[in-house]
Amino acid sequence: MRRRDMILVPLCLIVHLLRTSYSDLVVPRTVWKYGEVSLTTFSASGVSNYSTLLLSEDRKMLYVGAQEAIFAVNMSDISDKKHEVYWKVSEEKQSKCADKGKSKETECLNYIRILHEFDDETLYVCGTFAFQPTCDYISVKSFTLQQRNEEGKGKCPFGPNQKYTSVMVDRELYSGTVYNFLGSVTVILRGHLRTEYAIPWLNEPSFVHSDVIRESETNLVGSDDKVYFFFTEVAVEYEFYSRILVSRIARVCKGDQGGSRILQKRWTTFLKARLVCSLPESEFVFNVIQDAYILKTSDWKESVFYGVFTSQWSNLEVSAVCSFKMSKVEDVFSTGKFMQSASFDQSHVKWVIFGGSVPLPRPGSCINNEERALNFSNSLMLPDKTLQFVKDHPLMADTIKPIGNGPKLVMKNVKYTQIVVDRVRGLDNHLYDVMFIGTDKGLLHKAVNFGNEMHIIEELHIFSGSEPVQTLLLSKEDRKYIYAGSHSGVVQVPVAFCEKYKTCTDCILARDPYCAWNPLNKSCTRIMKDNSNNNLMQFLNGNAAHCRTKDVESVSPEEHIVKQGELIELKCLPASRLAKITWKLNNRTLHENSNYRVDQNNLLIFHLTDAESGIYDCWSRETVKGHTYQQLVERYSLIVENPVNIITASPTTQLTKMEGKSSSTLTSTDKERRTPHTITSWIQTEFSTSTEFHTSTGMSSTPMLTPTDNADLEIETKFDRSSSMSEEINSFLLCTLVVITLLFLMLIIYNCYMKYLPGPCLTLCLYKVGNGKKPQFDYDNVSEELVKQQSVQINGDNQGSEQIATGDKGYETESDCGNGKIPHAEKPQELKQIQENYSIKSVDAEKDADIKYIDEEAQSLC
Ligand SMILES: *[C@@H]1O[C@H](CO)[C@@H](O)[C@H](O)[C@H]1NC(C)=O
Ligand SMILES: *[C@@H]1O[C@H](CO)[C@@H](O)[C@H](O)[C@H]1NC(C)=O
Repeated sequence: MRRRDMILVPLCLIVHLLRTSYSDLVVPRTVWKYGEVSLTTFSASGVSNYSTLLLSEDRKMLYVGAQEAIFAVNMSDISDKKHEVYWKVSEEKQSKCADKGKSKETECLNYIRILHEFDDETLYVCGTFAFQPTCDYISVKSFTLQQRNEEGKGKCPFGPNQKYTSVMVDRELYSGTVYNFLGSVTVILRGHLRTEYAIPWLNEPSFVHSDVIRESETNLVGSDDKVYFFFTEVAVEYEFYSRILVSRIARVCKGDQGGSRILQKRWTTFLKARLVCSLPESEFVFNVIQDAYILKTSDWKESVFYGVFTSQWSNLEVSAVCSFKMSKVEDVFSTGKFMQSASFDQSHVKWVIFGGSVPLPRPGSCINNEERALNFSNSLMLPDKTLQFVKDHPLMADTIKPIGNGPKLVMKNVKYTQIVVDRVRGLDNHLYDVMFIGTDKGLLHKAVNFGNEMHIIEELHIFSGSEPVQTLLLSKEDRKYIYAGSHSGVVQVPVAFCEKYKTCTDCILARDPYCAWNPLNKSCTRIMKDNSNNNLMQFLNGNAAHCRTKDVESVSPEEHIVKQGELIELKCLPASRLAKITWKLNNRTLHENSNYRVDQNNLLIFHLTDAESGIYDCWSRETVKGHTYQQLVERYSLIVENPVNIITASPTTQLTKMEGKSSSTLTSTDKERRTPHTITSWIQTEFSTSTEFHTSTGMSSTPMLTPTDNADLEIETKFDRSSSMSEEINSFLLCTLVVITLLFLMLIIYNCYMKYLPGPCLTLCLYKVGNGKKPQFDYDNVSEELVKQQSVQINGDNQGSEQIATGDKGYETESDCGNGKIPHAEKPQELKQIQENYSIKSVDAEKDADIKYIDEEAQSLC
């Protein structure tokens, strides 16, 4: 690593991260705190870590894998436990595990990690079993373990904190996880077939998801069913001073049997590509995939998958959801270009696009009609050339870009951990993909993207504490519930809470594809699959103009009699966090002054006199697509009494002491539960002693549900979160940028003085700083530029290393081998040999005796 890279790269990164766009951030419209909506939960006493869930819709059962136990519960009511079986580690095994340096209390236990349907009568289950992963079968009827104790290495992780994924396809388990005690070797495994232990195949992967696409029945070219894996790994194709992570999708074909000489007992169809999820306008990259979900359709080509992503640079907590077309992935794997490793100077391996001719049959492709016609009816018959190629080139050059070129959802200050997606048909007959996304703090977001407009319908606190959502399942058959697993238990969540929307306007403005307004019984209801939806109203564009307004005059106020000189707080709890509040006294808008304050939507009156008697209305205004809808949230009638009179305390009046004065807090009790007073920290209400007045013009053009006195001067408490937030961010950004620029200049001067910087680079930097241009940083492009700069074109194996090395401008990777030296090759053959050696460079030295490296010679190099 040369000094100039060490200086320039981190600076560029910092500047880049600060330029993150905040314009796309969303606020959940409705928030349900824990206990505000009814959820069904399951947990057993003395058992924790409910992280593995399996839904059997045929048996109407949810199977739950926890710490040392497996349960079967009724899927319609998970609190109804049907069966349980305990699977504990013997004391002896536990001690042995503890002797190896693992914690007896937390690690040397049996964490159930794999639970699949094996056949009609049997479940397949694997657990970490005190760092000796073991699998077994459960007879569904008796719900007992069959004590077959199969080896679980490569199927199930060794310890509770290692990442894993698995899918059962036709009684065969496909798994991605660690393969040794230390967790340094990772595999994608099925029976005897696995991945090579080689950096180009898997480079410290964190597996998050896997699933099968059954396309063989409908595939036009007779291709096979495919199993897809999603993971994050350390990039080989981008070179920086530090490890850059990338998200990958990889696949293998179901019919793969390995090669006969080359790639014996290895996948011959393992290919992988990078998944891109980034903000198009700011180039901010979400490079770590946390979870994925494939939304399968009857025609596999229409299938899409959703991924939740975070950024490796976690000083900014931002999460995003991107969706991708499965057909695009297939295109890249079946027709895209391959990446190829090449060594430049003595210690430097670089990945470039392979420009030579690719052998036939195409490496990595599933056996299809074309190959069968050439008499290659299975992978064992494939020619060595094809197999050797796929062994050396598992990485595709093309990346998989998201639908719409950007995220479906971006959210600040949350870390998304899990996602499931439901495709719902609205009453307009359009399909809507409803995303259910779990966070590391126990929240569930329900979100829809309406033609690039991000909308979070609800935020739900599904656990009593703040713990990560570890598993999410969606019941497919009747699509009624989401099941979430966590440390403390399992939660069953209905997909919608339509009945919680009390007014037509609220029901429509929620824009929930599951819900519609029934004008006959005046309720918000779930839309049904049958055709009984005739009279229901649903406008997912949020057009609530069709809602008939309640006759405002007829709303009877809550009456309160209060003492003169008192301080009082009138509560207002709008159903929507997107709404703005206006308070009116006797139909005249109230202005904030020394006597009136609005605090988190509630109205504070400091000194009650006769003049404060009257009808107080709290109006919420919510704007959707340029239309503003008003709703009366609260109405109070205040009667201020002379102090000599006896006070009749209303039951809802709570007397509290405040600043030495007696004060009252008035609430409309039935609405309090909806949005409690204490949950309003999200809002940044600003109070200034000088109040802001403005005439609300432009209101006349919007459909008004209720009469408003438009001419009135209004007080606007600053509820516009986005603007105040971005102001803060802007000033923060400005300060940081100034500091960074100063540091940067000092560094440049220092480096210039020390002559560390080459002339052209220095000129470029000064030019950029001088122009005040925003620095460009896109590692995709940087890397591509580098490749171009170096004018490298490798055509097959025919070109010498000298030509390759000419363009080297000194960008280097960290040394990959122990001492960082891979000898410089003079001849093409040697170059190829070195590439091979590099590519099979194995992971850390292993204690496990049973790990055999394919090429011992590769070791000797490192
Ligand atoms: C196909 O392979 C079989 C044996 O594997 C061989 O007998 C047959 O002649 C081959 N057919 C063609 C068309 O190459
Ligand atoms: C298991 O659950 C406990 C709390 O019940 C939690 O503290 C611990 O981190 C969990 N362990 C794993 C490996 O999930």
